[in-house]
Amino acid sequence: MKITTLLLLPLLFLACTGDPNKQMISSPENANTIMFELVDGVPTYSVMHGTTQVLNSSKMGFEFKNQPAMRSGFEIVNVEKTSFDETWEQVWGEKRYIRNNYNQLSVTLQEQEGEQRKIEIQFRAYDDGIALRYVYPDQQEDSLVIMNELTTFNLADDGTAWWIGAYQDNRYEYLTTVSKVSELDTVVTPLTIKSDNGLSLSFHEANLVDFASMTLARTGNTELEADLVPWADGDRVKTDGSFTTPWRTLQIADEPGDLITSYLILNLNEPNKLEDTSWIQPHKYLGIWWGMHIGKYSFWESPIQGATTSNAKMYIDYADQLGIDHLLIEGWNKGWTPAWYENAMHMFSFTEEADGFDLKEVTDYAKEHGVQIIGYHETGSNLINYLKQIDDGMGLYQEMGMHDVKIGQVGSRLNMKEWHHGQFGVNYYRYVLEKAAEYQLTVNFHEPIKDTGERRTYPNMMAREGARGMEYNAWSDGNPPSHTATIPFTRMLSGPMDYTPGIFDIEIEQGYEGRDVHTTLAKQLAMYVVIYSPIQMLADLPEYYVDHPAFQFLQDVPVDWEDTKVLNAEIGEYITTVRKDKYSDDWYLGSLTNEDPRTYSVSLNFLEDGAVYEAQIYADAEGIAYNDRPEEVVISTKDVTSDDSLELNLAPGGGVAIRFAKK
Ligand code: NOJ
Repeated sequence: MKITTLLLLPLLFLACTGDPNKQMISSPENANTIMFELVDGVPTYSVMHGTTQVLNSSKMGFEFKNQPAMRSGFEIVNVEKTSFDETWEQVWGEKRYIRNNYNQLSVTLQEQEGEQRKIEIQFRAYDDGIALRYVYPDQQEDSLVIMNELTTFNLADDGTAWWIGAYQDNRYEYLTTVSKVSELDTVVTPLTIKSDNGLSLSFHEANLVDFASMTLARTGNTELEADLVPWADGDRVKTDGSFTTPWRTLQIADEPGDLITSYLILNLNEPNKLEDTSWIQPHKYLGIWWGMHIGKYSFWESPIQGATTSNAKMYIDYADQLGIDHLLIEGWNKGWTPAWYENAMHMFSFTEEADGFDLKEVTDYAKEHGVQIIGYHETGSNLINYLKQIDDGMGLYQEMGMHDVKIGQVGSRLNMKEWHHGQFGVNYYRYVLEKAAEYQLTVNFHEPIKDTGERRTYPNMMAREGARGMEYNAWSDGNPPSHTATIPFTRMLSGPMDYTPGIFDIEIEQGYEGRDVHTTLAKQLAMYVVIYSPIQMLADLPEYYVDHPAFQFLQDVPVDWEDTKVLNAEIGEYITTVRKDKYSDDWYLGSLTNEDPRTYSVSLNFLEDGAVYEAQIYADAEGIAYNDRPEEVVISTKDVTSDDSLELNLAPGGGVAIRFAKK
């Protein structure tokens, strides 16, 4: 289905306010309004949500290398207003049909003196937020280096911010800090804010192509400024003389849950470029993986090597028995050593098998059992080495009939030099994604750049890490219960995450002393609904799934959805999400909490009117907590209709998962 109405309505300058230096655009339902104003030649903009001021007058512009800055001395030479309304279908996703409906204001400025350069600023007003970007046309220069973007976001109110500091060696893999906006450091996006005026806000960017990522630096009390991640030589963005920036986005919601069901980031990306998507399959997967992280297996050749042909066959047998049709195998190739993760331009081979592993034998065996093998490329951030081998490495997977690859970039700098998030990294990740599409491979990036919605354009971009995932529980103090109650409102706003849930052995018997996953078992189930990904790992050692009654939920829960709703939510505290299966009439509910227990009643009015569903409920046993008998889960069933409400009781660090099976 594709319904499109496109209205192009060029208007005269004077049309809206009478003052040619003031231009205004509101969203289709008037939820948000952007006001552009040229004040003594200086471009500024401000944003309102209804009658609430969100951004006060905020500046715009650029500084360049060996060229005068562009920040003042402008006149308006053209103004255009357009409207757009389209409903498009996702190849896979958390919602099948997405409406892209906005009003756009485009203002072209020209310097009155000097080189008389032009720049166009495009503003889009959506009912769920606003976006702006710059288009700098080809004029005079053959190359132009951006040294600074001067866009500010001058928040009208202080508020509570959930943030991760920018420029850290482990990229986005930190716990979230909570502070007032007025105490922020330089932070990565998405940056989520609960404003003192009650609004939920998220700053991010969309369609990050051939540009540096934007971080946000606090430059005034509650004023933030774009801060572009530099190259090692200090340049921010190298261009051929013209450029289009990514969209700078601000999602604006009355309730925190509405940030999650906003599709503004996807709407600001280009439509799907892949004609044939039949080989792209959302899936659940087992892995020869958790065993390495808990120290049961090694990544490298050793007496406890994880990736051996016999282990792989054993895992394929488990996959077959458990009804899971994908298996990730890490450490199958040459190059792994006990020091593989050190920053040392480590040399991996992407075609040579580790001793004791036979890729052809394993993929043939997998095929016989209806299982697809997921390949693994750990680059160690030595991209010089990887890019020399990328065609051979991906070609090998294609030859083996494989369709999925996970790609790691462990290391604090790419090639021991560049930030993952600078323009160099942005271009690298895009190149790899396009290359993977050529070989009909879907991609799961670990140590990725942040998601800015590229899955719309390249639906082989399945999921990525980009936050502390489950593995942190295996070998560090781990993720506290509040972490998974926070990331749905922060990291997850950018796109799907390969969090790798599903640990049933909560206290990690076979792992390092004193490590556990800081949730109840029911919360592990709830994560499959709350933390969206089209690929979901069943991360535990498979023996913990065999004959476990709660495994039924992992078998049932889909990875591709018709629709998503958030029933209740408070950032960092709790969330209840429901999603409708794309291929049946069933709905699924996941609810999870931080360290605090919760009891709430949720209305089932999302179910189809008049229909009866069997609610298959997986709940925390009474009196347990994430650190006290966390594995006790109570499974019950009950017939319900859309007129009913259900009371949910969540233990400290707990959760509840429900399948509503239509009768
Ligand atoms: C870190 C990744 O997050 C993890 O999934 C992977 O197993 C290791 N790197 C090894 O590449």
